Amino acid sequence: MGPTERHDTGQRDTEEQDIEQHDVAANTVERNPRAARWFHAGVYVSVIVLLITGWWLLLGNEGSPSLIARVTGVPDTEVHTVAGWVLAGVTALTVVVGARGWRVFWRETVRFQHGDGAWFRRWPTAILTGRFGRHEGRFDPGQRVANLVLVVTLLALIGSGIGLVLVSGGPVFVWFAQIHRWSTYVVTPVVVGHVVIASGILPGYRGVWRAMHLGGKLHPRDARRVWPGWTERATGDTHDPRHLR
Ligand code: HEM
Ligand code: HEM
Repeated sequence: MGPTERHDTGQRDTEEQDIEQHDVAANTVERNPRAARWFHAGVYVSVIVLLITGWWLLLGNEGSPSLIARVTGVPDTEVHTVAGWVLAGVTALTVVVGARGWRVFWRETVRFQHGDGAWFRRWPTAILTGRFGRHEGRFDPGQRVANLVLVVTLLALIGSGIGLVLVSGGPVFVWFAQIHRWSTYVVTPVVVGHVVIASGILPGYRGVWRAMHLGGKLHPRDARRVWPGWTERATGDTHDPRHLR
């Protein structure tokens, strides 16, 4: 999630920057800049801790410490709240320093197009065969839906979580607790789905984990398979040789 652009200077548009992202010598395509990769790492470390401790509490285990609580010696409620503040803080920071990245992320997320329906129809088999429908976006249609759900639910969790910290009882507390719990139900399967897809264990998504890790550089074959239009703009190469599919 988050900033998708490398520089914060002037009016240069995405296409121009995409072209820079192609390292001809190394034959790789840079997908996400360093700032976005670090933000993403901060989000996922905190979200994973929040999911584990949150579900632990939700399932009524407040009295018995989870593995995280035993290892750290800190009660689950406190681990949860600290991780919550980390997520809130990291997110707020990027709104200030990564405003342009957020704008690009949002613009590319709400760009639904004709042909997205066909992409979704092919998706269930394409995750195994790698033969995805064509789309022109920076994000594929599935990612765009996931992005919307993640942004809305994570903001709801941050807002209601801060509410739970600040308010200690009464109807407002109950209201925050309801929002917090329902957002957890929605966010959990989406995060699990995202991790399964983005880890590259499914054949269609092989190699995509590199988009957010190490140098954030993809093999052009993987980039072209999952994000064909974006890859063509990033590399300036519209040629689609069979052996790279
Ligand atoms: C646990 C909380 C996590 C959240 C909330 C999260 C959220 C996001 C979001 C919103 C994006 C933007 C594009 C997209 O929707 O794919 C993204 C990208 C990505 N995430 Fe995560 N992520 C999490 C964990 C992980 C983990 C554990 C991995 C490890 C494999 C991972 C790998 C990736 C990759 C490779 C991308 C780049 C996709 C691209 O370039 O379009 N994410 N993540
Ligand atoms: C991915 C994000 C988050 C998830 C999945 C999550 C999940 C949960 C869950 C399932 C519970 C237990 C609710 C219940 O028992 O009904 C909980 C409690 C709580 N959460 Fe979160 N949460 C998240 C983020 C946050 C944030 C950002 C904060 C605040 C900064 C926060 C603060 C709290 C507090 C104060 C409680 C009550 C703990 C207690 O019982 O004393 N959470 N959370």
